This record gives sequence, structure tokens and C-alpha cells, in this order.
Amino acid sequence: MLKINEHYLKLQASYLFSDIAKRVAAFQQANPDKHIIRLGIGDVTKALPAACIAAFHRAVDELAVDSSFRGYGPEQGYAFLREAIAKHDFQARGAEISADEIFISDGAKCDTGNIQELFSADARVAIPDPVYPVYLDTNVMAGRTGAFADGRYQGLVYLDSTAENNYVPKLPNEPVDLIYLCFPNNPTGSTISTAELKTWVDYAKANKALILFDAAYESFIRDESLPHSIFEIEGAREVAIEFRSYSKSAGFTGTRCAYTVIPKECAAYDSAGNKQLIHPLWNRRHCTKFNGVSYPVQRAAEAVYSDEGKAQCKALINGYLENADLIAAAVKELGFEYIGAANAPYVWIRCGQDSWEFFDLLLNKAGVVCTPGAGFGRCGQGYIRLSAFNSRENVVRALERIKAALA
Ligand code: MLT
Repeated sequence: MLKINEHYLKLQASYLFSDIAKRVAAFQQANPDKHIIRLGIGDVTKALPAACIAAFHRAVDELAVDSSFRGYGPEQGYAFLREAIAKHDFQARGAEISADEIFISDGAKCDTGNIQELFSADARVAIPDPVYPVYLDTNVMAGRTGAFADGRYQGLVYLDSTAENNYVPKLPNEPVDLIYLCFPNNPTGSTISTAELKTWVDYAKANKALILFDAAYESFIRDESLPHSIFEIEGAREVAIEFRSYSKSAGFTGTRCAYTVIPKECAAYDSAGNKQLIHPLWNRRHCTKFNGVSYPVQRAAEAVYSDEGKAQCKALINGYLENADLIAAAVKELGFEYIGAANAPYVWIRCGQDSWEFFDLLLNKAGVVCTPGAGFGRCGQGYIRLSAFNSRENVVRALERIKAALA
């Protein structure tokens, strides 16, 4: 008799965004004439930058001719993309990262979900609350938690991110081995200063812990005093892995391209206490389970770093940030407390009631989809998240409808 992995049975309902999509589909079926505006999942709506499209076309044409055709590429990604990333995303900001420390992949969701496979089942895991659900669910699947009780999985260390700490969690007061951080934050849009991030790096060094730093939203940083990468912090190379994505910065949510940075010094320990480098282990995993991102997609990602690509991505990001500003201004006018928008495409709003009830209210009365804060964790109860990823027209319309619904 085949037995299943019973840890899957501990998972709560379905994946948050699938759950929301199902509710919205049911609402649309019941109200076919109602026009719905989606400010829920952070999915981009603007076309790919022209420089990426041109590079994509050229690469597709290369595949049409035997002499320039390419089959399997390197699992870790083509050198042209890895070198461009090292130069533009890291070395240009004084972070010493080399091309061979970069692994190209099809998404930060997959990488942040898969990385935990490398660590022992008894690793003590610290996860912020609220949090992007992938970090949590993949640790549940791997058996690092107990049952779900009172809104939380037993056995995890939750790092509360609340108004009291300005949505930047404090260091844990019990020992942890693996720490998930995401800045600019999803879902709250909060940011971390260099000094605050340094306290986490120092903690990780002192405790032989490892930080998994999700920087998928770094391109939305407007405040230039903020770190874009954990590798801008001294000492981080030994104790941090960083995840980046072209999904939000260049509109690649459907195109799929991202990368993970694992410095050569970065290590965890075996049961005898010996240091084990993570880079060769992730490389082994990547080569075994992944066959690389397609050549045209990697060429399109490389074009992000051309002069035109940089300018076009900046325009895309600025457009979404302006949407975020409009959302923030409207919720302020409505008298809600909020955070985010300044350096992130998300606005985290204290709605003052059950967040799923508020989700239903906005859907029913305004035809606007938000993300209920409770879906991101217990500390998200009483909040909702609005995403700035939509056209200006839809954002303006959604805000008018929300104002009318709450009047
Ligand atoms: C979100 O809405 O939180 C993101 O779109 C999720 C993701 O990037 O997978």
C-alpha cells in the first residue's frame, strides 16, 4: 500500500491565490454583468519592454536555423545573462558577486520553495508573519512543522511584523537555523534599512544560521539609502542566499525568468558539525531536477540590462509606483492606516474588520479584488493588501468604486 506524505494533509485549504481566484470566478459566474478589477495577486498587466521583445524575436530566429540552433543550455543559465546580472545588479552596487554564483531559473517562487530541500528536516525555521505563503507551505510539505493550531503551524518560529515594529521583524528570542526575509516586503511593502539588515547578518553569523533573502521587489526601491541586496551588507556572503526575479521588474510573470545567488562561502553544517558549502549542493540539485530556462527567454532577460532595456523597465516600474501612490492617497483619504507604496507595488491597509469579510465587501460592492491579509498569516488579520499591478485607468476606476462602496 502506497502511503502519501502526510505533511501535505496539514496544509490549510488551497494555495492563497488559487483560493481567491476560485472565489472571484464563482462571483463572476453569479454576476456575469459585473465588471471586476483585480488588485489582488501581484500580476503585471503592461507589455514586455520593447528591448526584451526585440531580443526575444532575434533569439527565436536563431533557433530557426541549424547553424545557430541551440538545444539544452547550461542548467545554471547562459554565461551572457549570468555575467550581465553580476555586473549590473551586484558589482555596480559594490556587492562582490561573480557570474558563477548565479543560478538562472524559471521563478523565485520555485527557488524559494525548493531551496529548503537542502536543509535538515529538524532545522529550526523562522518565518515572518505576515508572509508570502510559499516559504511557509513548502516547510510544511517537508515536515518541518507540527499541526496547524490557532492560526499557526506548531514548531515554527514566527517573526511578527506589525505596526509596532514598523513591519520589520525583530531578532528571534529563541535559536533558529533558517531565516526567511523579504524586502521590500510582500505583502506589507515595508523596507529594511542597511543597519537593520546588518543585525540579521550578524545574528546569522553568530548562530551559524542562514538567511534566505527574497529581493524580488528591489527594483521598486525609490529611497536610495535602502539596500537593494543583502550582499551590500558586510559578512553576508557566508550566511545568505538571495532570490531575484524579472517577474515584477520587467513584466516576466508569464515569460518566467528569475535567479538565485549563492556565494561560494555560504555554508550549512553536517551532523558532525563540519561546514558544508551550499553552492555545490544547489548546483547538484539544479542539474538533477532542472534543465534551464529557454534560450529566447534568457536573451530577453539579458536585454533588461541594455540602455534601452533599463530605461523601459524603469518606465514600467514608475508606472506601477505611481499607481501605488494613487492607492495610498485614496486609502489615506478614506481614513485607513496603511504602509507600503513608497518603495513597493503593494499597499497594506488596516481595514479594521475581518479581512475575508472586507474582501467580500470590496468584491460585492465595488467589484474590486484585493488580497485578504489573513491569507498571509495571523498578523495579517484585520488587513488587506492592494496591488498596484494594473492599468492606470483600472486603478483609478477601482479607487472610485471603493470610495463609493465605503461612503
Ligand atoms: C503576490 O501577489 O504575492 C505575488 O504575485 C505572488 C508571486 O509572485 O508568486
